[in-house]
Formats: sequence, structure tokens, C-alpha cells
Amino acid sequence: MKLTDASIVHQTLVAQEVYELKVSAPDLADAAEAGQFLHIQTGQFGQPLLRRPISIADIDRVEGTLTCLYKVVGKGTAVLAGRQENESLNILGPLGNGFPINQIERGSHVILIGGGVGIPPLYFLAKELVEKGIQCSAYLGFRSAEDVFYDKEFEEFCDVHIATEDGSYGHKGYVTDIVSTEGVVTYYACGPKPMLTKVKHQLPIQGFLSLEERMGCGVGACLACVCPTNTEQQYAKVCSDGPVFPSKEVIL
Ligand SMILES: Cc1cc2nc3c(=O)[nH]c(=O)nc-3n(C[C@H](O)[C@H](O)[C@H](O)COP(=O)(O)OP(=O)(O)OC[C@H]3O[C@@H](n4cnc5c(N)ncnc54)[C@H](O)[C@@H]3O)c2cc1C
Ligand code: FES
Repeated sequence: MKLTDASIVHQTLVAQEVYELKVSAPDLADAAEAGQFLHIQTGQFGQPLLRRPISIADIDRVEGTLTCLYKVVGKGTAVLAGRQENESLNILGPLGNGFPINQIERGSHVILIGGGVGIPPLYFLAKELVEKGIQCSAYLGFRSAEDVFYDKEFEEFCDVHIATEDGSYGHKGYVTDIVSTEGVVTYYACGPKPMLTKVKHQLPIQGFLSLEERMGCGVGACLACVCPTNTEQQYAKVCSDGPVFPSKEVIL
């Protein structure tokens, strides 16, 4: 974990209120694993005070860059969207524990299930899995066609199934309606809590869930992000014990 002043390489609008942010930070790019996140000081003069957690969506170790995708939902992300190319962004990271992939055998088939801004860390994961010779299918859910992003990017690595709530693109309904686990050894999911709850309870196999809780410190000190678990400790800190957990461990 490092505190770094990263330089903004670019910011682009890729869907309704969703920005792709690329920063140059070779040390962070070297250390990052799929499923980890960055804790970003979104404003320039310490405002807003609290950092905002954003997942790592991609890295380029040769270029020394990291890419994030985030949606503008409140003050912090609105300030971030106003930051310009070449400006410096103070980042703490990479934080948290990534998706475990070492136990998956080459040639196995896994599925990725993402909802909205839960999708970005799955893109990094898809690239890592395919590089290891693991077959991936992605099930991506959005509200409507104008919210869809990175579908073409995922198609370069996996077969992609899209669902939109209003039916304006792909299947009409929730992504959990279309998921098939036939021939699949495990799943990795990230998205809104109602989606993760369905994934945990509907799917007949065990997998991994990446949780998004409100955060303060991001490093395990303030207890802002605790979630209940089935473990002996009875709770876990999403920032430092997660954000990825085995599906059977978390209570949803
Ligand atoms: C591990 C992790 C990874 C994330 N990855 C992404 C990502 O890749 N792309 C993306 O768009 N969003 C992601 N989020 C959600 C993102 O952190 C929030 O949308 C963002 O913090 C909202 O900040 P705001 O100031 O714009 O909103 P406000 O609502 O004004 O924020 C107020 C406070 O609430 C917290 N907060 C609000 N909503 C959330 C939320 N859903 N999760 C956690 N904290 C919240 C903020 O950190 C802040 O402290 C992630 C969250 C976590 C925990
Ligand atoms: S955000 Fe402070 S303990 Fe997790």
C-alpha cells in the first residue's frame, strides 16, 4: 500500500454519468491485483475530506497506468469528474484483497456477474483469467441502454450476456434472470447488494462476492465498513478483510 501523487492521463465519459479515468502511477500498477481498489482524494484542496473507494478496472504494467470507471453519484465523484488531464490525484492503494484465482485449473469455465458500477473490477479479472487459460462468460446488468459500458471490451475476452431493466438493450430484466452455471466451476460477482443477495441464494454453486460498503479510512481502522459474516469473528471489515469474500461467508 502506498500514498502516491498520480498524474491524470485522461478522463472520458463512456456512458451516462460514467467516466473512465486513467492515471499514471507505475508503483501502483506494478502491485495491483484484480478486485483491489484505490482510495482517491477526489478534490485538490482536501475537500471533500474523506477519500472515495474506486475499483481498479484495468492496469498496464508497461505504461505504468491504472484505469478506473466510476459513476457520478454525489459530491466526491462530481468533484473527481471535474479534474483535468495532467493534474495530480492523491491516491492510497492498492487496497483490499483481490479475487482469488490461483485455485482455478487451466481450461475450467467460470462466470463473472456484474451490475452497473460493480462491473469495472470484473474487467481486470477477465483479462487475468483468460491469460491463465481459464474460459470466462460475463453476465452484465444495467438500468438501460444509455448506462451500458465496456460491453465491447469484454467481448474481446469472453462471451457476453447483457440485461437491462427496461429492455432497451439485451435481455429485459435483471442479470440474475439469465445466468447459467452449467459446466461452471465458480463465479465472481460485484454489484448492488440486492443483486449479490440473489446471486448468493439462487446459484447452485459457491463463488466470490465483492462488496461495496460506505468507507471512511479504507485501511481497517475506523470500522465504518463492517458487514456480518458466518465466521467465528461474526463480522468483517470490507476494506481490509475484503472487498472480496467467499459467498458462503457473508450474510446477505
Ligand atoms: C471497494 C469499493 C469499490 C468501489 N468501486 C467503484 C467503482 O469502481 N466505480 C464506482 O462508480 N463506484 C465504486 N464504488 C462506490 C463509490 O465509492 C461511491 O459511489 C462513491 O464513494 C460515492 O461518493 P460521492 O461523494 O460521489 O457520493 P456521496 O453519497 O456524496 O458520498 C458520501 C459518503 O458516502 C460514501 N459512499 C456513498 N456511496 C457509497 C457506495 N456505494 N459505496 C461506498 N461508499 C459510498 C462515500 O465514500 C462518502 O464517504 C466502490 C465502493 C467500494 C467500497
Ligand atoms: S473503512 Fe475504515 S475500517 Fe473499513
